[in-house]
Amino acid sequence: KYAIVNDHIINREEAKVDIEDRGYQFGDGVYEVIRVYNGKMFTVKEHMERFVRSAESIGIKIPYASENITKMLEDLIEKDNLKLGIVYMQITRGAAPRNHAFPAGDVVPVITAYTKEMPIPEANLQSGVKTILTEDIRWLRCDIKSLNLLGNILAKQKAAEQGCYEAIQHRGQDVTEGSSSNVYIVKNGTVITHESNNLILKGITKDVILKVCAENEIPVEERTFSLEELAQADEVFLSSTTSEVTPIVVIDEKKVGTGSPGPITKKLQALFKQEIE
Ligand code: PDD
Repeated sequence: KYAIVNDHIINREEAKVDIEDRGYQFGDGVYEVIRVYNGKMFTVKEHMERFVRSAESIGIKIPYASENITKMLEDLIEKDNLKLGIVYMQITRGAAPRNHAFPAGDVVPVITAYTKEMPIPEANLQSGVKTILTEDIRWLRCDIKSLNLLGNILAKQKAAEQGCYEAIQHRGQDVTEGSSSNVYIVKNGTVITHESNNLILKGITKDVILKVCAENEIPVEERTFSLEELAQADEVFLSSTTSEVTPIVVIDEKKVGTGSPGPITKKLQALFKQEIE
């Protein structure tokens, strides 16, 4: 197994973290998770664009061109002989004596990346998953794919403790997104999902779903929807790089619709599969 550290591919065991790396101390950095199907990264350009955007929005300038990083990730995938899985990549502001304010300009950011085998979650895609509701306690820049994931992990842990796959977060009456996914409802044939603003992460999978909806004349409304609308929905599903289009069949122990994956969700699963082939 190998890892990328800055502009080198090294043995995984040789990759080390400085105890004063700002990513380690402050969560001062951003990350991406990219799907690998058949040894190839899916929507890598979109992930790289979001990586740059996230980094820029916290004042980190990535010291390498996106094309060069992409090339290195491709080399890494090849060296690891990864066929089906993910690439995890992050950048931190770098290592410097601990101080909240940014360090001087000569501190170089630290990029790390590694691969992981991951199967397609077939059982979840087939049968759907159980979820819980939880108040969204995160900050107001959820559009940045930040390493600070405390709000997300506490939400996910709460779901896990109740034997559930995901926590659907809401700010008051408004549903935002899952702890590591975007959430959608279907009502009378229309797909409704939170608009991509500062309160959610603009999912790359979400963009693919919205694209296939447009191409197949499936009506979409990108807007805030309420807990009441969620409870009354015909179908509910979530999306992410690792979960693709996963039906949600239970929310807080109550069945969604008939309690099994609905027709629009299944249609979107099929259309999504076509995109990755
Ligand atoms: N999670 N919202 C949040 C809070 C997320 O963490 C993710 C992704 C998404 C979906 O984004 P995308 O479709 O680009 O994967 C939405 C990744 C997979 C993770 O943290 O593991």
